Amino acid sequence: MTTDLSKTQRNLPSPISLEAVDITAARFKANPFATFQAWRETRPVAPVKVLGQRAWMITRYDDVLAALKDERLVKDRHNAPAVGKESKKQAAVWMPGFLKPLERNMLDLDAPDHTRLKGLVHQGFTPRLIAQMQNRIHSLAHQLIDQAQAKGKMELIHDFAVQVPLTIISEMLGIPQQDRARFQRWSSVAVSMSTPLDGLLALPSLYQFVNYLRRLIQQRRLEPQDDLISALVQAKSETSSLSEDELIAMVTILLIAGHETTVNLIGTGVLTLLTHPEQLEQLRTRPELMKSAVEELTRFTAPVLLATERYARQDLEIAGTRIPQGELVFAAIGSANRDPSRFENPDVLQLERSNNKHLGFGQGIHYCVGAPLARLEASIAFGVLLERLPMLRLAVQPEALRWNTGLVTRGVKALPVLF
Ligand code: HEM
Repeated sequence: MTTDLSKTQRNLPSPISLEAVDITAARFKANPFATFQAWRETRPVAPVKVLGQRAWMITRYDDVLAALKDERLVKDRHNAPAVGKESKKQAAVWMPGFLKPLERNMLDLDAPDHTRLKGLVHQGFTPRLIAQMQNRIHSLAHQLIDQAQAKGKMELIHDFAVQVPLTIISEMLGIPQQDRARFQRWSSVAVSMSTPLDGLLALPSLYQFVNYLRRLIQQRRLEPQDDLISALVQAKSETSSLSEDELIAMVTILLIAGHETTVNLIGTGVLTLLTHPEQLEQLRTRPELMKSAVEELTRFTAPVLLATERYARQDLEIAGTRIPQGELVFAAIGSANRDPSRFENPDVLQLERSNNKHLGFGQGIHYCVGAPLARLEASIAFGVLLERLPMLRLAVQPEALRWNTGLVTRGVKALPVLF
């Protein structure tokens, strides 16, 4: 006999079981690819728990590509208010007043605000400016190897991979020589926050960083130089230019979005080459493969494993899964790039791979502003390392390496090498 109560229960939608995987854990970062494969095959939009709330992980190539271009998935969560009890979880995160300008960065905004900012950054961050850095990246890579040789040892992440993007972007921005050490100290703090405690401890550095930028922007407004900050100060659309707060947000997002990502591509790229000796040998003997090698290492190593968070602006359905309005959605770039429906032998590293339409730099309106710079830095970094250090090898077993925790990026904490 059925009671009224059990009838009611039967009519309720069955609760959605969350995948029991901590996607921020170092263990997951070390090898996320087996889990992604299982999700692509059985649960292509997998519900997971992220930072205490439910999020939807999109894993198939076609769905990830569509999601990155989908206007119903927004970056600014104010454009996707949650309904019902989920809305309580969306309470605003407290932020000190001096950090408010940073909220208005283009990676956290939607059209039309995003369109305006992106148009303006492209006026300053031009292919010409990037190409001008080629010789400087080259000399910097040599200088870092000279230093390692003088020391007789090298931890490739700290001694090399971190130095390249941070030095180059500081020089491009036009941070005066005498301020570079402290600018890079504050920047390092800003770019390495991954927990709320890190955020709290970083506040004094961030305060100094924002104040310093404000002063530098004022100086460049009065006396423009041949650098990126002056170019951004002068960038104008028909109707507007960047306000001081927008300039601070722009410089900060260029630093943050361009830092760990490039460190990971260089660091995990070298790790991957050293654990694939035949491929490494091929690259040594045929340096003309460098261009396709950088693309393949971007696809294979997933320096950005997940695109940054998006929110469902309305109830929607992806690959047969209903996603309620306001909920968090992640497009798993690292999974799309290993999807056999798009890539032949996706789990095999092939530096010669052609037609490599990977999504490593994103897609759609938020496509990476720094992709040409990252490609240039990585190809010079790999080239100089191979040329200068023909005996380069790992100093520890790959299994002993520690992976960074965190949400969207994927890389190792340290990479001790011998040469
Ligand atoms: C290997 C290195 C890099 C990788 C793999 C990478 C990857 C990405 C990806 C996947 C996105 C899109 C994120 C999303 O849609 O949620 C993105 C956006 C962005 N990247 Fe990169 N990036 C790299 C280096 C850089 C560099 C060097 C810079 C600048 C100096 C940079 C600046 C940006 C900015 C500003 C955005 C936001 C663009 C927008 O919102 O329209 N990135 N990047």
